Amino acid sequence: MRAVDRISHFAAGDPDHDAPARALHNVANLTPLASPRPHKHAVNAYVAGGAGGRGGLARYTGGSLVPTDVAGGGGDVVSRTAVVTGGAGAIGGAIASALTATGHTVAILDREADFGVDLGDETAVRTTAARVLETHGRCDVLIHAAAAFDRASLADLDAATWRRVQAVNVESALWLCQAFAPGMADRGSGRIVFIVSDTVWEPPAPDLLAYVASKATLIGIARTLARALGREGITVNCVAPGLTPTPAAVADTPPEVFAEVRARQAIDRSLVPDDIAATVAFLVSEGAGAITGQTLCADGGLVLR
Ligand SMILES: NC(=O)c1ccc[n+]([C@@H]2O[C@H](COP(=O)([O-])OP(=O)(O)OC[C@H]3O[C@@H](n4cnc5c(N)ncnc54)[C@H](O)[C@@H]3O)[C@@H](O)[C@H]2O)c1
Repeated sequence: MRAVDRISHFAAGDPDHDAPARALHNVANLTPLASPRPHKHAVNAYVAGGAGGRGGLARYTGGSLVPTDVAGGGGDVVSRTAVVTGGAGAIGGAIASALTATGHTVAILDREADFGVDLGDETAVRTTAARVLETHGRCDVLIHAAAAFDRASLADLDAATWRRVQAVNVESALWLCQAFAPGMADRGSGRIVFIVSDTVWEPPAPDLLAYVASKATLIGIARTLARALGREGITVNCVAPGLTPTPAAVADTPPEVFAEVRARQAIDRSLVPDDIAATVAFLVSEGAGAITGQTLCADGGLVLR
């Protein structure tokens, strides 16, 4: 059983509580491979961002990229399918557009979307993931951009608020990784990106406790999964936006804070959702294949790490 299957198996209710630890141990002890591993199902997919310049295509053949914009190779030509949670929102929408523009078929998971779902409901998330696979047959790229922003300081925080934020921001990402990582592993290639926040390093307000904690947890999950899934050809990274005046942020943030944050950035301009989308597009490109377990701050240089 592969590491990815062990992790999925355990989290789906396997009473063997040592399974994840053994899986990670097994992964850590693998002998480095001298050549790309053989994949169960080699695929030919045409993905944007390869050689051929802007808008050029690269042929993906079961784990290695053949830079070309000419169809060939004898296999079926398929595009990469990307799942974007929060894709009905500002940043998630920009990410969905960027991925569509680079040749992906995009499935949006949000409250109001083709795949409408409450991401705080585990059963609904698992059912929706299955629907995505039924509809598109595959998920090559998973972007988790949805978030609950509920505010409560330590004194006011109740369990329901805490659990709601963790369910949407953290747990839904886990259930989606469980659903999609095995298929990525079968194909020997996958990209997972969690949208976190530079508030992990610069918490702006005490009442963002549950939110900041959820983003820090996602970074820990990404680092752990990067190790667990790297040998399967799957990269797992985070992008940490800075304060971006989306409708959600504007509604939730006193106006003077935008000027204060901008004054502290190294780069003197407001961020826009496309700044985040471009960073994500890079991380899912074939050129970013050596980057995993990282968090890239796209925050105008507020946080220097
Ligand atoms: N805007 C900022 O300043 C900023 C800064 C740092 C990080 N971020 C992160 O960027 C991402 C997008 O933020 P945004 O400003 O575009 O916000 P947004 O509100 O426009 O997008 C969030 C999306 O998540 C969806 N969502 C929330 N709860 C859901 C649920 N239970 N079920 C299904 N969908 C749900 C919403 O419907 C919305 O479309 C979030 O992860 C956020 O934490 C934003």
